[in-house]
Amino acid sequence: MDETPRNTGDDSLEPMRPEDFDTIPPREPANPGDRGMIEEADDLFLEATEAPAQPVAAGAAPVAAVAEPPRKKGVVIREPDPLLEANEYAYHNGETHDLTGPFAIEFKNVHKAFGSNKILRGLDLAIPEGRVSMILGPSGTGKSVCIKHMVGLLFPDQGDVIVKGQSVPSLPDEDLFELRKRFGVLFQDGALFGSMNLYDNVAFPLRQHTDKGEREIKDIVDRRLNEVGLIPARDKYPNELSGGMRKRAGLARALVLDPDIVLFDEPDSGLDPVRTALLCELIEEVHAENGGTYIVITHDIMSARRVAEHIAVLWKGRIVESGPAEDLFNSPNPFVRQFLTGEADGPLGME
Ligand SMILES: Nc1ncnc2c1ncn2[C@@H]1O[C@H](COP(=O)(O)OP(=O)(O)OP(=O)(O)O)[C@@H](O)[C@H]1O
Ligand SMILES: [Mg+2]
Repeated sequence: MDETPRNTGDDSLEPMRPEDFDTIPPREPANPGDRGMIEEADDLFLEATEAPAQPVAAGAAPVAAVAEPPRKKGVVIREPDPLLEANEYAYHNGETHDLTGPFAIEFKNVHKAFGSNKILRGLDLAIPEGRVSMILGPSGTGKSVCIKHMVGLLFPDQGDVIVKGQSVPSLPDEDLFELRKRFGVLFQDGALFGSMNLYDNVAFPLRQHTDKGEREIKDIVDRRLNEVGLIPARDKYPNELSGGMRKRAGLARALVLDPDIVLFDEPDSGLDPVRTALLCELIEEVHAENGGTYIVITHDIMSARRVAEHIAVLWKGRIVESGPAEDLFNSPNPFVRQFLTGEADGPLGME
């Protein structure tokens, strides 16, 4: 496997990997208009199922047998929501609850487009310090783009991203590099280096970013491996581990520099429900033990119910509603309700 550090700052559809993070990408042009736009393929989707008018030749027998057009299995026909037709932000009531700060991260009127594909469209978001926050939202809505702005892998076309009081887009590269050390990132699938055993994977950030000696590194790595229950697997290579073990190893590695902020991009993807529950428990425990600001991106509502203290729902490049998890789970907003209960019925269609 090629593990040369690479710069994938413009490759948001790939899961983030540690080498993305350890390399400072060149600043992008404000509007990378000539970049290829990558569209989400939603081709499962919504075909008009109304029968086209059948021209009937004069004198021909009625063709009852072909009157019903073939229907795609599972295709849902929905009337367009009149509120959304009138105003696509009809459900973005901008309601925020209990948002008094201090904030670890703030997005202020952030716009980000890839070519003509506008992803963040005036995003205002505040992530409270010291808590477990979740960013939820439909697929392709810009959640990963959002976290890439937090660590300076992407920069806004307009607006500002403030992390721990510093404006990320205006930081010189050296300061950005320092700021990144304050983040731990749990990459999708753990993103471990295949050529290193678990111990070396977890030790990697310490060897890369600190001048600690091997004895001190061993103490830290062992403590982190113990925390995630992986001491017995310390000599194993990633391909010898299950998906759940790789995630736990990724968590150990994300925490090894004692980060102030930990980002989890879909930590539960690819795990069965029991392992997802166990991982959520581990995230809670580790947060209780270490403190810090955790930001979890997930589709999994059960995970949100288990671990979120604060929730922000992102859609169409802006926050629909954000606040303490309990308030969001009791929200009267039809979009928030639909999304948090996972129901087909509601304003969210497959567009
Ligand atoms: N580097 C890029 N170049 C072009 N378009 C991009 C790039 N990165 C993201 N996009 C676009 O931004 C949209 C949002 O992407 P993003 O990965 O943030 O979605 P997401 O909310 O994380 O979705 P999912 O829940 O499926 O992970 C994508 O549909 C894609 O069209
Ligand atoms: Mg994503």
